[in-house]
Amino acid sequence: MRDLPWPARVYLVAVIAAAAALIGHSAIVSGPLVAPEKLDILLVLGLLFLVCESMPTLLNVEQFAVSVSFSASLAAVVLIGPEGAALVGLTAAVSVRPGLPLIKRLFNGAQFAVCGYASGWVYEWLHGTVGVPRVNEFDSLIGPYAAATAVFVPLNIVLTLTMISLATSVRATEVPLRGMVQFLLSYLGYGTFGLLVAGLWATVQSISAVLVLLPLFVARWAFGQYHAQQRSYDATIAALCQAVETKDYYTRGHCTRVSLASSMIAEEIGMRLERLRAIRYAGMLHDVGKLGVPTKVLQKDGPLTEGELAAIQLHPMRGLEIVRGIGFLDEAYAGIMHHHERHDGTGYPMGLAGDEIPEFAKVIAVADAFDSMTSDRSYRGARPVEVAVEELRKCSGTHFDPVMVAAFIRALERSPWQPPRRVEAPPPDAAEATIKDHDDPTMPIQVVSGP
Ligand SMILES: [Fe+2]
Repeated sequence: MRDLPWPARVYLVAVIAAAAALIGHSAIVSGPLVAPEKLDILLVLGLLFLVCESMPTLLNVEQFAVSVSFSASLAAVVLIGPEGAALVGLTAAVSVRPGLPLIKRLFNGAQFAVCGYASGWVYEWLHGTVGVPRVNEFDSLIGPYAAATAVFVPLNIVLTLTMISLATSVRATEVPLRGMVQFLLSYLGYGTFGLLVAGLWATVQSISAVLVLLPLFVARWAFGQYHAQQRSYDATIAALCQAVETKDYYTRGHCTRVSLASSMIAEEIGMRLERLRAIRYAGMLHDVGKLGVPTKVLQKDGPLTEGELAAIQLHPMRGLEIVRGIGFLDEAYAGIMHHHERHDGTGYPMGLAGDEIPEFAKVIAVADAFDSMTSDRSYRGARPVEVAVEELRKCSGTHFDPVMVAAFIRALERSPWQPPRRVEAPPPDAAEATIKDHDDPTMPIQVVSGP
């Protein structure tokens, strides 16, 4: 708790107090929270909630997870009312998740209890009948149940995202809107399973919960595995990136920024979702071939010999050799291999021109040059964004593909670029600073003839 910033602590206490107040108020006003004949329903749904909650799917935001447990909570809204739904939600506090701090357990339990109670209240307010529904009652349940789901899911997301915002450096507004909409819609869809559990209860009692939620749980678990795999891919790429950037003090963060700028261009030209992931990887790894270039060449002060220039110009090929065995990179290979081709055919390594250049490479070329110009280098300070954009415009049609330049400029108008912070001079013992940057179109590398 002491690790949390004070606004997060206040918020945590407020959510827990709200849950305690709602449950306490109901206990005082209406006596037992759940009628004795409904205790079996509470037990089954509570157990199911606990199982689902114990195997959540991690969000892409570190340390936070989601689960399909709320379907059980929504079934409780129909079968045992708001108090029962709140009690089912409370079981999140005792989920089997080793290492989960008590604070997070309390917050999870409290926020699920608040959501369960609020959705149950809306359900009753709209005259939804609490209890095991009979066949002829089912139609009249749908409206109030839909309203209860429409309250539970967004409230759950808002309560969780607020905590994430207050407890970490991740702002709720930084969560991509498209991802949020998909997330919300899929959860509203999962909400219908709660109604199915309630509807089947009259026929098969407690088995209904297992019949409906088990397949859903398995599907969700498989989805979680897929996300775990994606996270391991991301970690692999990040490790390779880090290895490249340790060779050059001044290019730290360059891979990530090129990846971001490449994604902006790719989205602007309407690339499909699966290609967006590949181009993100390509941006991260575009210079991985630098690992195969001698550090003394990369860091050389002054003009390069022809042999040294050839070694640098070999880095796209070396990059391809390094990542060739990584199966999930797909089109990223083309981006890595050809990111120094030029639209007019004077680039390297193949001297491709115009439409011969793969689309990924055209995108990365623009992103790479832009970030290089707007970042500090040992031989010059960062250029303002406007100057870099002007340079891109100037080189459009010669160095860069005009379509990509135009797309990037449009994307920048919509989402202004945040240039990296000023780079302080490297400490004396870490003087790994490349003197010239092969990505910077305004500072061509000088070559002297010789070995
Ligand atoms: Fe490069």
